[in-house]
Amino acid sequence: MVFDFSGKVAVISGAASGMGLVFSKRFVESGGRIVMSDINKETLDKAVDEVNSIREGAAYGMVCDVRKYDEVKAIVDFAAKKFGRVDITIPFAGGAETRMLGVTEPDFEKIPIEVFDWSIDVNLRSQLYFDHAVFGIMKEQRSGVLIHIGSVTGAEGGPNVPGYSASKSGAMNGLTVSMAQLGAKHNIRCVCVSPGPVMTRASMANMKTLLGRAASPEEVVNAILYYASEDGSFYTGINVLIDGGRHIMWDRSI
Ligand SMILES: NC(=O)c1ccc[n+]([C@@H]2O[C@H](COP(=O)([O-])OP(=O)(O)OC[C@H]3O[C@@H](n4cnc5c(N)ncnc54)[C@H](O)[C@@H]3O)[C@@H](O)[C@H]2O)c1
Repeated sequence: MVFDFSGKVAVISGAASGMGLVFSKRFVESGGRIVMSDINKETLDKAVDEVNSIREGAAYGMVCDVRKYDEVKAIVDFAAKKFGRVDITIPFAGGAETRMLGVTEPDFEKIPIEVFDWSIDVNLRSQLYFDHAVFGIMKEQRSGVLIHIGSVTGAEGGPNVPGYSASKSGAMNGLTVSMAQLGAKHNIRCVCVSPGPVMTRASMANMKTLLGRAASPEEVVNAILYYASEDGSFYTGINVLIDGGRHIMWDRSI
């Protein structure tokens, strides 16, 4: 799919790996400029070099822990100062608490409460932080797209990931709808993209879908690029499940 993001500026988190990195490459290949942020400086620096090898000076890297509003505000303000505008924000950083924090304890009640706090903060609160940090800038320029990243796990739950499921579910939808309502009169759209299993790591191949496979990161990023682009200009306030039909796969023996 070919997009034209010439003159557009994006700010994202979780840019050092997975879909954040794939998005950064595609966005810059399509003419855009980007502030890539992540909590991991080493992998971020490498990722920014990779993206700048596509077009030198198109990407800046900034370390940001999305649990801290001041750090989110700082990357958004940096982009506005450096490039004069911010058109798209995408908080990619996130993941299931048990995997991300290496928790192996099987009993819910024995898992420290901080593990679930982490999940709500990184997966949900950060999306609101991005919206809040950029809203004034988009309002002033009278345009912008707020992308949220959900998950099919928000719809189907998961006994090992209650924090993740909670953070990617109803609250995320409510935030998406509210930001779409708030933004409409300022020409700001808001769309939540909720993937099923994506091959950002090999283990995702074990998660079943109706189509019999996990998505490639590119398949999901293509959709994100579409909703963020002018081609997707009439979409707002929706939660798009890109899950190969997993949410309607009642018979998982097939
Ligand atoms: N991969 C999947 O199968 C899948 C499915 C559904 C939804 N998602 C969602 O898509 C998003 C991206 O997933 P992915 O698999 O591409 O990611 P990933 O696991 O490859 O990368 C996540 C990145 O977030 C960064 N990060 C972690 N904590 C952070 C923090 N506090 N502040 C800033 N950065 C932090 C990590 O360093 C890492 O670079 C996540 O929100 C995830 O929940 C992924």
